[in-house]
This record gives sequence, C-alpha cells and structure tokens, in this order.
Amino acid sequence: MEPQALSAIISVENLTKEFRVNESKSGFMGSIKNLFSRKFRIIKAIENLSFSINPGEFVGYVGENGAGKSTTIKILTGILFPSSGKAMVNNITPYENRIENSKNIGVVFGQRSQLWWDLPVRESFDLLKSIYRIPERVFNKNIDHFIEILNINEFFDMPVRKLSLGQRMRCDLAASLLHDPQILFLDEPTIGLDVIAKDKIRKFLREINRELNTTIILTTHDMDDIEELCRRIIILDKGKSVFDDKLSTLKEQYGKERELEIEFSEHYNSLDKLNDVTIFGEDENKKWIKYNSDVYTSGAIISKITEHYNIKDISIHEPNVADIVKTIYGKLP
Ligand SMILES: Nc1ncnc2c1ncn2[C@@H]1O[C@H](COP(=O)(O)OP(=O)(O)O)[C@@H](O)[C@H]1O
Ligand SMILES: [Mg+2]
Repeated sequence: MEPQALSAIISVENLTKEFRVNESKSGFMGSIKNLFSRKFRIIKAIENLSFSINPGEFVGYVGENGAGKSTTIKILTGILFPSSGKAMVNNITPYENRIENSKNIGVVFGQRSQLWWDLPVRESFDLLKSIYRIPERVFNKNIDHFIEILNINEFFDMPVRKLSLGQRMRCDLAASLLHDPQILFLDEPTIGLDVIAKDKIRKFLREINRELNTTIILTTHDMDDIEELCRRIIILDKGKSVFDDKLSTLKEQYGKERELEIEFSEHYNSLDKLNDVTIFGEDENKKWIKYNSDVYTSGAIISKITEHYNIKDISIHEPNVADIVKTIYGKLP
C-alpha cells in the first residue's frame, strides 16, 4: 500500500455518480406517450474520480457550474450513494454510516442554512447541542471562541431570518464546528457575500485550519478564496479531475503567459523587432501583447521594447488563478 493512503483522512477511489433523469414529453399527447415509453437520460455527475487528502490539508475544489462539486461533497457527507467506486472519510464509508460520519465532519452549504429560520441564533445552537449530544464543556468552549472571533455576539439573540447573508454564514460556520469535527466541508460558503464579509470568513477559516489542524475541503468558484486559503487545488471538469496538485505548481505550469499594455509615443504598424510575442489588441498608439515568461523576463522585454520603440507608458499583467483556470478550460477538448 502507498504510504499516503495509510495516513489519508479522506480517500476517493474511482468514484462515479450517475443520475437518471426522466425525459418526459410534455402536453396531453406527451403524457399518454410517456405511459408507454419512458425515456431516461443518464447524467454522469462525476466519473472515475480519485484523490486522497491528508489530515490538516486545506484543499480548493474548483469547477464550473455543473462540474460535480456538490455531488462529491454530498457523497462524502453521506447524503448520496455513489453509482460505483468508493469513498472513505476518517475510516468510515459515509453513505453507509451517515450518523457515525456526521460526528467527524462539519458541513456548510452556502445556498442553504442549517439553522432554524425563526429561532434566535442562540436557540439554534442549543438545539444542535442536544441533537449532536455535544458535551457541555466542548459546547461552551466553542461558543465562547466562535462568538469572539466571528463577532457573533452582536446578533446572537436575533432570529436567523433577520440576519444579513454574511452574518448568517458566520453563524452557519460556527454551527458546523460546535462538535469539534476534524473535517470541514464547505460548499460555496462565500457565494453572494461582499468583500468584507468574505474577508472575515477567510480569516476565520485560515485560523481554524492552522490552530485546530482541521482538514478543509472548500468548494468555490471564487478564485480569490482559493488564492488566499488553499495550498492544493483540485480542478473538476464535467465530473473528471483535470488538475490535482499544489497551487504553486498550477501557476508554474500554466501561468507563464504575461500580458503587456504599451502606449507608444507614435503609431507603429508592427512590432517586428520583438520575436515570439503576439499582438492581441490595438487602439490608436496602444498595443496589447502577450509573451511567455520562459522566453522573456519582464526586465528583458521592457528593455527590448524601449531599445527599439518610443513609448509613453507600459504595464504588465500577471495572470491570477482565475485566468489560469480559464486557460485550462480553454485547452480541454
Ligand atoms: N439530483 C439530481 N438529479 C439529476 N441530476 C443532478 C442531480 N444533482 C446534480 N445533478 C446534475 O449533476 C451534474 C453535477 O451537479 P453538481 O454536483 O451540483 O455540480 P456543481 O456543484 O459543480 O455545480 C449537473 O449536470 C447537475 O445538473
Ligand atoms: Mg454546487
């Protein structure tokens, strides 16, 4: 056995999940036809997915809408059964032992609160305490801690429905961690939040990952979340893993393209003194060019340009993770 497999806290092997969707015909004649022939379409939400995650890792789980992110999280939290393959979370098969699994994990679905809409936050937490049989000592320690670092006290006695999205998300996060889980699954926790609210949540996540060594899988399509939080990134495309490595490796492998915006003092028809660059935009005396950072360092390209042309202004754009992920999608079949 591989040493990594021994220490993995989450492992997924050849996991596939198919959904059968009814392709029923609409209208009266359609519904009669449906009686005789039922047509199903198979959607492969995830296909032959394999990865393993070690304790304390903070992994970004990324993909476009419909890529299969939530389906994976639902299998790992025991809500869904896979069609084939297997998943283990802390030595438990989540969909076979959902209750046992829930003791080890915290879950936040950004689109849906697990709190009671009409109850004050405090009472929602009390309910969770009895549902999950959280020991008094653990509960009090966590409540005090989370109230402080997430500034929950301002609205601790307000009903959940009166909270802003950002406040609610902070409460949902605290709620998911009340029982000291080792693993936290976050499905789009920053969706719809403003910059300040996002920032608070990111700080909090960084802290619990660092201080409690909580293993975190973060599903998001906000690449700033990934850039600020995750060392490792798994990119999903149509249910398949297309990249799984360190974020820095992603940048090294795909982030070599640089863009320059140059404003010249006069009009040049072409830039034939520059080899291996592509002009991809022009506007009067301005040109936008692309080059590979293996071919030119930023210093080298700028001195080459100033040597041969008269310029007024120049600026370099280095790609961020969002650009790189777009590049990867662009290269996929
Ligand atoms: N319960 C379901 N029934 C049928 N199709 C589903 C169901 N849940 C998800 N899907 C389909 O599976 C694919 C993956 O969905 P999902 O995991 O929600 O993607 P993501 O979270 O990455 O946006 C999509 O094509 C979606 O329409
Ligand atoms: Mg989703």
